[in-house]
Amino acid sequence: MRVRLPLILAAGAAALFGAAAPVLAQDAARVIAERREGLRAVQTEMEAMVAIARAGGDPRPAAERIARVQAFFQTFPDRFPPGTDSGDTRALPAVWQNRAGFLEAYAALGPRLAELRTAAETGTPAVFAAAVQATGGACSNCHRQFRAR
Ligand code: HEC
Repeated sequence: MRVRLPLILAAGAAALFGAAAPVLAQDAARVIAERREGLRAVQTEMEAMVAIARAGGDPRPAAERIARVQAFFQTFPDRFPPGTDSGDTRALPAVWQNRAGFLEAYAALGPRLAELRTAAETGTPAVFAAAVQATGGACSNCHRQFRAR
């Protein structure tokens, strides 16, 4: 219990300042693995949507893919707690050093996903294709600044 107390205090302080609590070393590897796995799943969804867009197909079935992507990104900044900046990760130090910029790049994705979902549900191929491209732009905008090549 005595060992845990400072951790609880640290978590409380971090919450006060709006930052995520640092994770224990043994948890860091798991957090990194889970965020990368989730991002690969997002990539698979995006590739399926690019294929629909290129084929000019009916985008309505893509709506549930977008819902899964939205669900994953809901807590995205929390997937980068302090302590997950090293190890098997391509996240750049800027994720933690320029938190405001990271959150800004993150905030830009939400509206693109919302538009993408509306475009899919509306079912107009050309509008959907443009929205897929705009979404990809929001992904790249963050990667350029915050992900190592
Ligand atoms: C706010 C920033 C941000 C946004 C927005 C973002 N990403 Fe990323 N992405 C990252 C970071 C940082 C990493 C590196 C994660 C790591 O290696 O720990 C990454 C890694 C990835 C990876 C590599 C996963 C692996 O195998 O390691 C894929 C794929 C990916 N992102 C896809 C996407 C797609 C698709 C989108 C848009 C729908 C997107 N990302 C939006 C920051 C972002």
